[in-house]
Amino acid sequence: MPALDHWHPVLLSRDLKQAPVGVRLAGHDIVLFRGERSCIGALADNCPHRHMRLSMGKVVQHRLQCMYHGWSFDCHGGGESPATPKLYAQAVKFDAMEKHGAVWVKSADSNPAFPAFDIDGYYNVCNLHHRARAPLELTLDNFCEIEHTPTTHDFFGYPLDKMHEVAVEFQTTDTSVRVINQGPSKKINWFLRLLLGIRRRYQFMDDWTTYFSPVYSVYDHWWADPTGQKASMVRWRLYIFFTPVDEQETAITTFAFTKSRYPGPAGCMRLFKWLMRRKLNHEINLDVRILENLTDMNTSIEGMKLSRFDKVLGLNRERIDRIYRGEAKAASKGPVSAGVSS
Ligand code: FES
Ligand SMILES: [Fe+2]
Repeated sequence: MPALDHWHPVLLSRDLKQAPVGVRLAGHDIVLFRGERSCIGALADNCPHRHMRLSMGKVVQHRLQCMYHGWSFDCHGGGESPATPKLYAQAVKFDAMEKHGAVWVKSADSNPAFPAFDIDGYYNVCNLHHRARAPLELTLDNFCEIEHTPTTHDFFGYPLDKMHEVAVEFQTTDTSVRVINQGPSKKINWFLRLLLGIRRRYQFMDDWTTYFSPVYSVYDHWWADPTGQKASMVRWRLYIFFTPVDEQETAITTFAFTKSRYPGPAGCMRLFKWLMRRKLNHEINLDVRILENLTDMNTSIEGMKLSRFDKVLGLNRERIDRIYRGEAKAASKGPVSAGVSS
């Protein structure tokens, strides 16, 4: 199944207003616009007449009008030419839908399942969009291990001097990779401790699963006492989608939810939405800075000296090749355990 055959979040809904918007997905330029009766148009950003960029046009009476000669297209790509009314023109069309506050796109002739969001009892604190000038695999690598959290992150993760105490466990299925980490928490300022209900002896728990149609990870973050009997008042669940813009760049789309045991609507989280959003945005920008300063953008794990936290890199690559890119010959980039040392 080629990359375009999976549902990808390509734009946050709030960024698609009256004007068309051009996006890039796996090397394909696509124009999005709002058509008739809440239909989202997703067409190749290329007018079938004489190849003008359609995203430079405008929406007139629910049709996307090309800037060059005024041909217009409905959200299924059906075109009309004002100068030649009997002419039939069809723009290349993609399937599109709006869900969870984002616009999702896939190829027109595929039938994948839409990613399942398990968010009962959770409150959507924010949706964020970032871009990293790094390939898909390297971007996912960064989001799938916690060894970088002491030095890269301010809030999430573990302290460097206690990293050796952090336990890591991997659980796999044919279509998913789960990573579970548990260890001493970083120092967290008193206000956040109070807000999230984190007690002094609590450890940081980090449990996420990556899926590959499309490529995304579902992260649960919370704090708990080592026995697991008591836990923080608030926990996070993040759905982070890794969408190749092209071979060199990856979009990171985050749907962030919290579950709070405090009384009141949304467990009082509405009041602190702005703070959660700011923190999360800052933490992801720290990841982007790391990714954009890698010296080698080759996606192979050959030649890397990997740690006990990095076993996930090979597990993910095998599934990206097989499930996401639909390559018949999987794991061509070396065995999963290559270079792993503990
Ligand atoms: S190029 Fe689009 S109408 Fe002519
Ligand atoms: Fe990170």
